[in-house]
Amino acid sequence: MPTPEELRDVYRRQAEWFAGERNRLLRRARLGECIRVLDLGTGTGELLPSLDRRAEGYAVGVDRDATVLRLAPRLRTTAEAAALPFADASFDLVFTQMFFLWIARLPETLAEIHRVLTPEGRLIAAAEPDYGGLIEYPPVESGLKAYAHALAEEGADVDVGRKLGGALANAGFDVECGSHPARPLDCQPESFTSERTQFSFIPYFHFLATKR
Ligand SMILES: C[S@@+](CC[C@H](N)C(=O)[O-])C[C@H]1O[C@@H](n2cnc3c(N)ncnc32)[C@H](O)[C@@H]1O
Repeated sequence: MPTPEELRDVYRRQAEWFAGERNRLLRRARLGECIRVLDLGTGTGELLPSLDRRAEGYAVGVDRDATVLRLAPRLRTTAEAAALPFADASFDLVFTQMFFLWIARLPETLAEIHRVLTPEGRLIAAAEPDYGGLIEYPPVESGLKAYAHALAEEGADVDVGRKLGGALANAGFDVECGSHPARPLDCQPESFTSERTQFSFIPYFHFLATKR
């Protein structure tokens, strides 16, 4: 089991991979005009200070895991996403990143997010993977396929990327969706040398959902 500090390093790296797409989504969701923002599944809160700074009002971090959450700065609360301790219509924006793959009770969780959003409030679901679309060439025994298998054993829905759009629509959202590979060229270039010829690709989906 990684320590919370080790997880923080992982989340920090992952946050860099998705920075471009995340910032595009946040601009389209008009973060700068949002008064109340919820960072749901904030983990160690890597994105919380920047959400807080860029919002018109403030950002709150929520996670069910108190051990990682203790590393998160500013406003934070331990809570389960399917039972949020907030009144109806409390937030203009609910932001998530790499969150829904861990959600077993998807309809209940989406209903709860819908409840705490203001009318026409928005949900961002950034960086949801779809390991079913994995390309790894040449295949390696302990590569990403094995990693996906281990994640699934821990309870992750590793194909959540392809499912989430329909689930969001069923939960009462208008949905826009885009995708890009896990390692955009400008972040982590795949380079080939005669010693290193491995190539890997995982589609990651990004959603902007507006409450109907
Ligand atoms: C992969 S981490 C992502 C952390 C952060 N969003 C980021 O991108 O750095 C997923 C987080 O979601 C939290 N989480 C998973 N299921 C949850 C639930 N049902 N309720 C609240 N938090 C949950 C986990 O504890 C974990 O900290």
